Amino acid sequence: MKNPYRKLMMLGAAASLALVGACAPGGGGGGADEDTPEAAAFRFRQAVMRVAAGKMGPIGAMAREEVPVDEAVFAKNVNDLVAAAGMITEGFGADVSNAPAASAAMPEIWTNMDDFNERAANMLNAAQELAQVVEDGGFAAAQGLVQSTAGNCGACHRSYRERDE
Ligand code: HEC
Repeated sequence: MKNPYRKLMMLGAAASLALVGACAPGGGGGGADEDTPEAAAFRFRQAVMRVAAGKMGPIGAMAREEVPVDEAVFAKNVNDLVAAAGMITEGFGADVSNAPAASAAMPEIWTNMDDFNERAANMLNAAQELAQVVEDGGFAAAQGLVQSTAGNCGACHRSYRERDE
């Protein structure tokens, strides 16, 4: 009744399926999951940018009076934005020429590194200034500064981030 050969076949099939599964994530060249310095840098800057956006959004919404003012939440978001802004340049150490295909970072970052770093520094300075104003005068004092702080995001993206099609 038992067919040892068939059992072997099934084991073989299961093993190949497991192999396919193991190869699927990160398979194919240039994936963001790849274990290269360039892919790691991409994941890092993407995380920093997502945090920056996750903080800038609620800061802007409160400044535009779309949500009720909460001094503690506002102050925390601004301080977190400062932390994120301080990490931007750390995500651009590895050359973009080998960056994963999903990256929107433009090659000009690495040929104009001084200018790029200056824009990152402007972002950090603006966020730090905002944080200082919040500390001294709270939300009311800082409200009018939020838009110009956020302007630093676009000032860098316009030159160094590929636009979505
Ligand atoms: C000094 C330049 C610079 C500054 C300042 C900057 N960004 Fe970026 N940002 C980039 C670049 C370059 C990319 C593309 C990175 C990539 O895809 O490799 C990017 C990508 C992003 C992304 C897409 C992340 C993803 O999921 O792929 C978001 C969102 C973002 N930035 C938000 C912000 C916000 C919000 C600010 C301001 C608080 C900001 N950025 C400030 C350069 C900058």
